[in-house]
Amino acid sequence: MSSSSSSPKHPATNPQWRLATQLLHNAPNRTIHGETSEAIFLTSGFVYDSAEQAAATFEGTVEHYQYARYGSPTVDTLQERLCLLEGAEACLTMSSGMGAISCALLSQVKSGDRVVAAKALFGSTHWLMTNLLPSYGVETVLVDGLDENAWKAALSIPTKAVLIETPSNPMLDILDIGVIAGYAHKAGAVLMVDNVFATPVGQRPLALGADVVIYSCTKHLDGQGRALGGAVLGSRQWITDVLRPFVRNTGNSLSPFNAWVMLKGLETLDLRARTMAQNALQVAQALKAMDGVKNVRYPGLPDHPQAELARKQMRDGGSLIAFEVVNGQEGAFACMNSFSIIAISNNLGDARSLATHPATTTHKKISPEERAELGIHDGVIRLSVGLEDPIDLIEELKQATDTALAL
Ligand SMILES: Cc1ncc(COP(=O)(O)O)c(C=O)c1O
Repeated sequence: MSSSSSSPKHPATNPQWRLATQLLHNAPNRTIHGETSEAIFLTSGFVYDSAEQAAATFEGTVEHYQYARYGSPTVDTLQERLCLLEGAEACLTMSSGMGAISCALLSQVKSGDRVVAAKALFGSTHWLMTNLLPSYGVETVLVDGLDENAWKAALSIPTKAVLIETPSNPMLDILDIGVIAGYAHKAGAVLMVDNVFATPVGQRPLALGADVVIYSCTKHLDGQGRALGGAVLGSRQWITDVLRPFVRNTGNSLSPFNAWVMLKGLETLDLRARTMAQNALQVAQALKAMDGVKNVRYPGLPDHPQAELARKQMRDGGSLIAFEVVNGQEGAFACMNSFSIIAISNNLGDARSLATHPATTTHKKISPEERAELGIHDGVIRLSVGLEDPIDLIEELKQATDTALAL
């Protein structure tokens, strides 16, 4: 449903507005009360003037909200604003990022179909690929996302969906969206990109050749650790014909309250993402000089293995760093336990800096062999750099990595 009911006093949507303006003003949905901040339509149902209007709504001849599982004004405002931001024709939101990924995949495939993904995936996405989809009779193939020949070979067979994360969680591999899109399309597949790490202001997968973009809105879009949410964006046809029936009938919907939280988050997304990336670059550079640190992986550093591709695809290096301390898991734990500003949390994209030990948390369920192959060593810490003064973070990291060194 469109936001055509917005007050005439409100400026109209304009996809040509620059990013910062779009994040605040596009897809307005102001009520007759003229509120500044979007209203929260916290209702599960909607009433009809007559039985005829209800019947016509279900018939599709009248535009009227039916039920919050199918759509509601606050959720629609978020979806429209995300579409404009992403340059997508359509968007549907879900209750979490995993809700978004599972709905995108499960709506696209049926028993007997084939899905190819890069090996470097968030733990729950890896579980979908290696447990859930195969249990439903879907063939799944995991490839080394950095090896073009592996994509070429895996996608020489008809395939329904290809799923990648770039940058990947947690080792920040940068995958070539355009190249993978080429092979995916030849195989008849829809290319889905989990753009969580890059954010919609940091990377535009659709413009690079992807068909579907997926977000955990829980991360940078909220950005202040308050609410779960997910979003899937793509062509109007795919969203309407493939995703929408699945989502409506299986019930993975975003609460209007959470949609409102995300709308508030979007207002400062660009500002936060820019500052967090500047802070992350400074922190990554400083980590490289610390004696207790063996390796630093950050897409904005010139020594990142795909630095050139990162520069091509991303606006900046993003807010996440993976670094390996000396003395393995013991070193990583000693380092993390001595933080006082940086919180130990498996969340990311928050205004507060957060550190995770992927091998024992987010990527615990992946076998030790696979973790080793992906570079997720026991000494690796994933750092989500927030909005603190980077000098405070650097001082804290120096002291913490020295603790690992002293073991
Ligand atoms: C890259 C990536 N995708 C998806 C998700 C899942 O998001 P959510 O926790 O909102 O379900 C996460 C969560 O950490 C993630 O890091």
